Amino acid sequence: MSRSVVLFGTQWGDEGKGKVVDLLSEQADAVVRFQGGHNAGHTVVVGGRSTILHLLPSGILHPKVHCFLGSGVVLSPPALLEEIAYLEKGGLPVRDRLHVSSACPLVLPCHQALDQALESMRKSKKQVIGTTQRGIGPAYEDKVARRALRLCDLMETGGWEEQLRELLDYYNFLLEHWCKQDLMDVNAVLDASLAWVEPLRPLVSDVPARLATLRGAPNTKLLFEGAQGMLLDMDHGTYPYVTSSNTAAAVAATGAGVPPRSIDYVLGISKAYCTRVGAGPFPTELKDALGERLSDRGMEFGSTTGRARRCGWLDAASLRRVHQINGLDGLCLTKLDVLDGIDPLQLCIGYEVDGVRYRALPDGASLQARCRPIYEELPGWQKSTSGLVLASELPHQAVAYLRRVEELVEVPVTMISTGKDRRDTIILEDPYADRQAAFVPGEHIEQAVAMHGTFS
Ligand code: GDP
Ligand code: IMO
Ligand code: MG
Repeated sequence: MSRSVVLFGTQWGDEGKGKVVDLLSEQADAVVRFQGGHNAGHTVVVGGRSTILHLLPSGILHPKVHCFLGSGVVLSPPALLEEIAYLEKGGLPVRDRLHVSSACPLVLPCHQALDQALESMRKSKKQVIGTTQRGIGPAYEDKVARRALRLCDLMETGGWEEQLRELLDYYNFLLEHWCKQDLMDVNAVLDASLAWVEPLRPLVSDVPARLATLRGAPNTKLLFEGAQGMLLDMDHGTYPYVTSSNTAAAVAATGAGVPPRSIDYVLGISKAYCTRVGAGPFPTELKDALGERLSDRGMEFGSTTGRARRCGWLDAASLRRVHQINGLDGLCLTKLDVLDGIDPLQLCIGYEVDGVRYRALPDGASLQARCRPIYEELPGWQKSTSGLVLASELPHQAVAYLRRVEELVEVPVTMISTGKDRRDTIILEDPYADRQAAFVPGEHIEQAVAMHGTFS
């Protein structure tokens, strides 16, 4: 029997997904990206060496793991080729175990030009979204509008020039008349695109068929790696301050091309506090010295754009909503070490707007912007948790904090990350192993501390 785990972000991205994917990849046969594009930035630290990945799955650092980009991913050919070259220059072979769906819509220079032009127009109206300006939004718009050019189109060079010219005509119309910007040089884009064909050709693959074969083989382990986070989801996030894909765990099935019932375990990743990069509502944001302290200690700067991330308290009310939508089997809390020495701690348990209480963020950007968090106060701890690998070594206040998160979200905390490195992790449940005992909200973490310290 094969086993499939979906790992995804439960906040506004940058929860530490890359680190955890890398860790779980030690035992995986295949790691699959299923949505997003090179707007993602996943930092993986192994033995003090840091690697930032944007498009390649974070399992790529394990030389035996096969990596897949499913058709739900929007693919920038130059970004992919650059990332492969960066890893291969560092001595890590990539090409022989990378499989890219021929149905991936392409992110082309015209998408990036429009993304940038629209952001600068929004700037003058003070309505900036703060996109990564990689062209992700326009690329997904083209997909939904059925005019996207896909990897399979690029591979069929016979019709490519005509298709590309038509698309660029459309973009040049928008850039000239709507955005009042310079036009794209069609011939330059065409020449650049033709240079992608041969390097990409060997990577093109029938991803659903390969994944079906892997799932059919005995004892294979598949890991589906989400990018961005649930609060950036098109439908369930803080719309319109979201990314242009669905980031929910369910998308692993459609975005990779596997049956929904093939997913065995859903692992949500959350920081022990909260960050957001870009504009949009953030009820628990701390715009004071404490926010700065989280930012400094957590080194909260975007891996893709280098922008400072906004910081705030953990929002258990949003996590509860994320659980309603995704059915989490386990929750991994990262960056617990960043909370060391902060006392007291606040946990958001709901919101209030004009005297009305909400258990989840209400829909609507202006209502969300007016949400005041309702906090529950918990004691902090003074001892360092940095690099701990045993739950039994956690300060009792940290255990109480994790226990309260379990109770409020009604999901067991199954992993705790205590540092950047692959090794700095307390594993309370292996998502690839069968669950040993029924989960009782709030008791799981304490049982783990008392019985084992770790289940790894
Ligand atoms: P992703 O986009 O979800 O993969 O997250 P990012 O890689 O963009 O951001 C997470 C950052 O936190 C990276 O710089 C990681 O190296 C770092 N990180 C991950 N887990 C921990 C942890 O437990 N403690 C600390 N201090 N840093 C961590
Ligand atoms: P990872 O995978 C954090 C944010 C942008 C912006 C919004 C829309 O590293 O967690 P887009 O370029 O997608 O149209 O931007 O989404 N955003 C992210 N924030 N982490 C990410 O990825 C993000 N990808 C997009 O900052 O607010
Ligand atoms: Mg990131």
